[in-house]
Amino acid sequence: MNLLSRVGSTLKRATPARLAVFCFAFTILGVSILGGSVVSAKQSAAPAAQADAHPEFPAGPGRDVTLRLCSKCHSANNILATGRTPEGWQELIIKMTTMGLQGTDEEFTATLDYLTASFPPKVNVNKATAAQISAGLALTADEAKAIVDYREKNGDFKAIEDLKKVAGVDAAKIEAKKNALQF
Ligand code: HEC
Repeated sequence: MNLLSRVGSTLKRATPARLAVFCFAFTILGVSILGGSVVSAKQSAAPAAQADAHPEFPAGPGRDVTLRLCSKCHSANNILATGRTPEGWQELIIKMTTMGLQGTDEEFTATLDYLTASFPPKVNVNKATAAQISAGLALTADEAKAIVDYREKNGDFKAIEDLKKVAGVDAAKIEAKKNALQF
């Protein structure tokens, strides 16, 4: 029996009270079908839209699941305010689950890995010591010292390009840590 004929036979048997309940239920059903199709249309358009909507989120494994899990209650841009250590991100995810965040273990792991790789703790290159620069940006002690010497001689760094100019520093390493840089 298809949906329409089932509706027809239900209507024939209906008393006014039953009919009212039926109409109410049908309205809810109709709205949720409609709502559902709007949501799924949005979801299928999401990957392209997200790539545009979140240019600050670097490409990488786990990006899509992170944006999906972490934009349900607030903007995913909350993530951008701070960088964190792996432990810090783990604590934050646990805190979000107490707020109602839901996901599978695989989704949480992918999200944690993505957040850890993409948003490390920030290193203020104008204030940090050579030791902090070396640890935070995965540079050798010599590279870190070259940065501090350059800063003392030329004043504060303004942008990543200034850092890449420092003689003796591997610009590729700076590029790899660009999300950790703070000026
Ligand atoms: C079920 C709703 C919900 C989901 C899903 C959710 N959050 Fe939150 N988030 C909240 C609420 C509520 C607050 C404000 C609570 C507070 O500031 O103590 C918040 C605050 C935050 C903050 C700022 C406050 C802080 O503690 O640093 C960050 C960053 C954050 N969320 C990141 C995330 C990330 C990352 C995810 C995905 C893994 C996520 N959220 C998913 C509800 C949610």
